[in-house]
Amino acid sequence: MSSNSGQIENFKLVRADIQDRFISVTWSSGSKSLFPCVWLRDNCQSQDCFHPSTKSRLLTLDNIDTDEIPTNVKINCNNELEIVWKNNHVSLYKAEWLDKRRFEEDARKKRLTWLGTDMELWGSEMKNKVPVQQFQKILDDDNELYLWLRHLEKYGLVLIKDAPREVGQLNKLGQRVFFLRKTHYGETFQVKVKADPNNAAYTTGILNLHIDQCYYDYTPGVQMLHCIENEAEGGESEFCDGFHVVNQLKERFAEYFNILKSVDLDFMDIGTENNRKFHKIHRCPTICTNHKGEILKIMFNNAIRDSHIDCDAETALKIYESLKVFHKLLNDERNKISFKLKPGEIVCFHNFRVLHGRKAFKSNRNRHLEGAYIDWDEIHDKMRVLRSELNN
Ligand SMILES: [Fe+2]
Repeated sequence: MSSNSGQIENFKLVRADIQDRFISVTWSSGSKSLFPCVWLRDNCQSQDCFHPSTKSRLLTLDNIDTDEIPTNVKINCNNELEIVWKNNHVSLYKAEWLDKRRFEEDARKKRLTWLGTDMELWGSEMKNKVPVQQFQKILDDDNELYLWLRHLEKYGLVLIKDAPREVGQLNKLGQRVFFLRKTHYGETFQVKVKADPNNAAYTTGILNLHIDQCYYDYTPGVQMLHCIENEAEGGESEFCDGFHVVNQLKERFAEYFNILKSVDLDFMDIGTENNRKFHKIHRCPTICTNHKGEILKIMFNNAIRDSHIDCDAETALKIYESLKVFHKLLNDERNKISFKLKPGEIVCFHNFRVLHGRKAFKSNRNRHLEGAYIDWDEIHDKMRVLRSELNN
């Protein structure tokens, strides 16, 4: 049997039965799957219910009845689940389509790969394993482009080499994905020592491990820093997988973990850029989790953490204890890596997950990085398009 026909065999339906407000379908393997009738009605793929070119639902919630049970169900000769509803409307569901939407856990796990949640956490062992790619290859080859985005998704850190040593290269990478994410610092920003700095990045001082732009509700997802000149003494870059450290915090200091995921802090950025005043404030916990307790993002930036704290004084004291422990763990040598960027290199990192920092440097020589951001929405979008095109 060829692999293709084997695949079809896996999706073969043999039986459908009404069970109260559910339809039970039986696959040729003998396994069964349960689908709520209301879900089947809601997701009818007929042209009356689902617009084929906009790929959007035409039914409203008024059109569906959570108690409705079909008058007839069967597997037709095209290997489709065929349902006849009370008003004689007929719905058809292809076996493969149903298989991808099964409510069983294994099917839901498969969906996670498509959503791009698969990551490999790391500590200092990453020092010699940072994925390295060539700039021009990413511009020229879709496979290399996909690999770059996949590395960002999986490790949250990629080093691109051999980029021209002049500004404007990050725009090219942004265009390969879709577009760069603009902030009040512009579409790209120049990290140089500035006489009257409006951001700590524009000084020669140390930048402790941090997440950029915590004062944005929609924090940029990925940051890229292109090294154009780096003759200054010092200024090594540091990176730390924050999700890896949060797991350690949760395991060893559960109380502090709970405080950092439940107490909101304010982050602010107030100043002027290109003669335009800005005044950003965003309030969020240090560790943002979803209802399953999974880490969504880390919002940690000591320099722009506001003095306003929305809790009682006793809890505020606990926040400081928690932040200090978290900071110490982040800076544990076992949890971070450091290297000095060379001209022509672009370091790209997951801005919700991988904290970045910089050691202090002497300003006696030139140091110039160009920075830019891309949002995860655009990266995941591009990855799905590429996967379809490259059959990945
Ligand atoms: Fe930064």
